[in-house]
Amino acid sequence: MTDRCNLRCSYCMPAEGLDWLPDESVLTEDEIVRLVRIGVQQLGIREVRFTGGEPLVRRGLVDIVRRSHELGVETSLTTNALGLARMAEALAAAGLDRVNVSLDSVRPETFHAITRRDRLKDVLAGLEAARAAGLGPIKINAVLMRGHNDDQAPELLRWALAEGYHLRFIEQMPLDAQHGWSRDAMITADEIFGWLEAEFVLSPAVEPRGSAPAELFQVDGGPGTVGVIASVTRPFCGDCDRVRLTADGQIRNCLFAREESDLRAALRAGATDDEIADRWVIAMRGKRAGHGIDDPTFLQPDRPMSAIGG
Ligand code: GTP
Ligand code: 5AD
Ligand code: SF4
Repeated sequence: MTDRCNLRCSYCMPAEGLDWLPDESVLTEDEIVRLVRIGVQQLGIREVRFTGGEPLVRRGLVDIVRRSHELGVETSLTTNALGLARMAEALAAAGLDRVNVSLDSVRPETFHAITRRDRLKDVLAGLEAARAAGLGPIKINAVLMRGHNDDQAPELLRWALAEGYHLRFIEQMPLDAQHGWSRDAMITADEIFGWLEAEFVLSPAVEPRGSAPAELFQVDGGPGTVGVIASVTRPFCGDCDRVRLTADGQIRNCLFAREESDLRAALRAGATDDEIADRWVIAMRGKRAGHGIDDPTFLQPDRPMSAIGG
């Protein structure tokens, strides 16, 4: 939806923000909906997830959700939840099915230190509004950072279980704008299991995982669960069925793709639906077998997570 954001999570962007895309580069509402229609009607896409940056800061989001929903596709949103208190009801009315919310700590001072904004209260209000609007099941994405919130995994899980949210811990990936990621500093899934198992009994969940990035575990015999998205130490690339469309109309066949395919240029040059669909299929055929983070030749993609879409 946009590469802009109203938080500055330290694993994502620098305090001063980034050079945002110029307005004319960003797809219009009609262009986005046309691409969604082509994806759904010609390429078999069954679910559309709206991401950013922060998708709630994009004007026109509610209309884009409504028009996508009318195409008969499942719709979801990945958001930091600032702004959900204001928008949850309108989004639900437009046909949004569910939301995933990024939240790395439920302590105000830790939240402030990680996101560089003192806005935990607004996130919690956004979550309440999402629940009241029926935008569930609500998933919470948490990234653990050494020295910031690595002491808070059990606390986050206790909170999520009490609130009825589905918590997933995500291994930090080399997708930060500052290129400061390091394999040695990153908190691994095994460390997270160690901290959780000191307080909870985890057992593999029975539901089949399918193409979901999260490995799910039942907590203390259920019904609560916790997920771990171990993109780095337990990659799931072989089951990945996603494609990403950036705010400026580029198809990426992987988060870590080194090439993009320019659908915006095709749209603006008057291409037919079939021509756009063909270009999209060709982009997908170039998908590599894996992200290659562990290869000695690995190069971090030029664009950060906020410009790719989570
Ligand atoms: P659902 O489970 O369908 O709700 O969606 P999701 O968990 O995939 O979506 P969300 O946007 O909440 O993503 C959670 C985390 O999983 C983010 O950090 C994503 O970057 C990561 N993730 C999602 N898909 C992939 C993928 O294909 N590869 C990798 N490495 N990470 C992914
Ligand atoms: N590694 C892992 N997860 C990240 N996110 C943002 N940047 C990174 C990163 N470098 C998370 C956000 C959000 C989701 C889309 O991705 O916290 O929940
Ligand atoms: Fe914004 Fe999400 Fe990046 Fe945090 S991780 S700065 S909420 S885009």
